[in-house]
Amino acid sequence: MSDSKYAPAEYKAKDYSHLRGLVGITDEQIEVHLKLYGGYVNRTNALFAKTAGLSNEGKTGDSSFQELKRRLGWEWNGMRLHEYYFDGLTPKAGELRADNPFAKAVTAQFGSIEAWRADLAGVAKMPGVGWALTYLDPNNGQIWNHWVEDHQDGHPASGRLLLALDVWEHAFAVYRKPLPPERAAYIEDFFANVDWDVVAKRLA
Ligand SMILES: [Fe+2]
Repeated sequence: MSDSKYAPAEYKAKDYSHLRGLVGITDEQIEVHLKLYGGYVNRTNALFAKTAGLSNEGKTGDSSFQELKRRLGWEWNGMRLHEYYFDGLTPKAGELRADNPFAKAVTAQFGSIEAWRADLAGVAKMPGVGWALTYLDPNNGQIWNHWVEDHQDGHPASGRLLLALDVWEHAFAVYRKPLPPERAAYIEDFFANVDWDVVAKRLA
């Protein structure tokens, strides 16, 4: 029997110090949001360490192991979804041009960029808090917008995430008050800051 132990990888919070001076979304709002993101990274590492420790002790049948594994889905997706969100923003954003591969893909699916955008905005304005996500089905090339309430629940299996729009209230509570009527204004701000080149690269 091997003496080697299960050793999970450790995650580091990504550097988003360039995300200042966005259109609409204030620096203070981004700083608060990045602090929250860092918490997900820290808790993800802690949960991996704790569950690996229990696994190495042969305690995989313990309720503590099982409950920590349940929490891992929340923390890990909280970390990764925020990375999709922040990676997709830039202070140097421009219009989504018709010759951008993502623009071509959504135009083929929805008929126009505007129709895709209106569809995603509609998802993002749904009652409740969560994520409005644009997914690609790599099996047939379909692109569609998807609602995810809790970080860990409801993601389409094998779907490739192209764009993540955070509509938890913490994403706009600092600079858009009162809630929730200002959610619509935040969604407009979001679209003004998307890095369409990053989104296009996710198609590949
Ligand atoms: Fe968030």
